[in-house]
Amino acid sequence: MGLFDKTFLLKQQADYLRANNQFFYLREIDPAASPVVTRHGKKMINLGSNNYLGLTENVEVKQAAIKTIEQYGTGSCGSRILTGTTSLHIEMEKRLAAFKKTEDSITFSAGFMALMATIAAITDKNDTIFSDELNHASIIEGCRMSRAKTVVFKHSDMADLEQKLAQVGADANKLIITDGVFSMKGDVADLPGIKKLADQYHAEIMVDDAHGTGVLGATGRGTLEHYNMEGQVALISGTFSKSFAAVGGFTCARADIIDFLKLSSRPFIFTASPPPSVAATIITAIDVIEKNPQIVQTLSSNSSFLKNGLKDLGFTLDDTITPIIPIIINDDTKAFMMTGLMEEEGVFVNPVIFPAVPKDHSIIRVSLSAAHTKEDLSLALDKFKTVGKKLAII
Ligand SMILES: Cc1ncc(COP(=O)(O)O)c(C=O)c1O
Repeated sequence: MGLFDKTFLLKQQADYLRANNQFFYLREIDPAASPVVTRHGKKMINLGSNNYLGLTENVEVKQAAIKTIEQYGTGSCGSRILTGTTSLHIEMEKRLAAFKKTEDSITFSAGFMALMATIAAITDKNDTIFSDELNHASIIEGCRMSRAKTVVFKHSDMADLEQKLAQVGADANKLIITDGVFSMKGDVADLPGIKKLADQYHAEIMVDDAHGTGVLGATGRGTLEHYNMEGQVALISGTFSKSFAAVGGFTCARADIIDFLKLSSRPFIFTASPPPSVAATIITAIDVIEKNPQIVQTLSSNSSFLKNGLKDLGFTLDDTITPIIPIIINDDTKAFMMTGLMEEEGVFVNPVIFPAVPKDHSIIRVSLSAAHTKEDLSLALDKFKTVGKKLAII
C-alpha cells in the first residue's frame, strides 16, 4: 500500500457516511461552547459542549482575557523554559495547586499533552502501569510513549485490578491510572477501591480529572473532593478546556515531582506556552468558582432536571451523577438518525459509536452546562420526545 493510499480508504468511508446522512463530525457551530448556538443560520440548543460551568460567557472571565490581550498582546511566542513564562503563568499554577490542594502544579498547552507528557516523564520501561480500559486516548498515548509495561484492567473492576496487581513482582514500580469521571459514560471511578488496592500492593495513583474538575465535590474541586480523598493520590491531571473555559492542561502533585516535570518533560520544554490571556482566563475562572460555588449546584440541578425528564419520557440512561448523560441506543444507525432528527428539531447532540464505546453499545452523549436555562432544557425534552417516538426508541 502506498504512503497516501490510506487517505482514499478513509475518504470512501466518510463519503459513505455523508451519503447516508450519518456524518456528524466537524459540524460548524457558532459560538462553539454557548448553551444556544447557530448552525447554518438556525438556532440550536447545544447539548454537546463540555463548558460545564458556562464560564466562556462569564463577564468577569471575558474581561480578564480582553484586558490581558491589551497588556500582553495575543501570544507568548516562546517556550516556558525560555521566554514563555509570565507572572500570570506562575500565578495560574499557584492558584490551581491551591484549588486542587496540592503543593504545586505544572501547566501544558493542551490537556492531551498534560496526560501524555506526565505519564511519559514519570514512568519508563522498568515500570508497570495499570490502566482502566475506558481511560482517555491521551492516557493510552502516554503509556505508549513511556514504554512502560501497560496492563489494562476491566472498567472499574476492582477484582480484575487486584488480580493484575498481584501478578506483578512486589518490587516493581506500579502506577494505577484512571479517569476521575469517564468521558463517554459519565460514571465516576471507584477511587476508594483503587486507593485500598494501591496501599495493599504499594502502587501510586494518577487521576485524570478532566471531567471531574468544576463538576464534582461541593466546591467543584473534583473527584477527590467528592470522595473526601484530597491529598491521597500522587498525581492529578486534567484540562482547562472544560470547566475552566479555556484551553490547556495540568498536573498537580508534590513540589519535587512538579520541578522534575518542568525540567524534563519534552512536551513542556519544546513547545510555546499558552498565551497570557489564557492564563488570565484560568485564574479568573478559579476566582469565579471559589466565590460562587453555587454554580456547581446549578450544574447538578440542570443535570438532574434533564435526566429525570428523559427517564420520564422512557429513555434508557446510564445512571450518572455527572452532567454527562449517556442515552443508550445500542444501534449505530439509530444513533445517527436520532442525531440528524434532533438537529432538524434544533438540538445539537453527539452520537458516540465504536471505538469510543464498545461495539453495538452506541449512545447519544448529552452534556450539560450551568448556563443552560430550565426553558432550554424543557424545550430540548419536547424535541427528545418527538424524535424518540418517531424512531420508536420510547
Ligand atoms: C478524560 C479526558 N482527558 C483528557 C482530555 C484532553 O483534554 P484537551 O481537550 O484539553 O486536550 C480530554 C478531552 O476530551 C478528556 O475527555
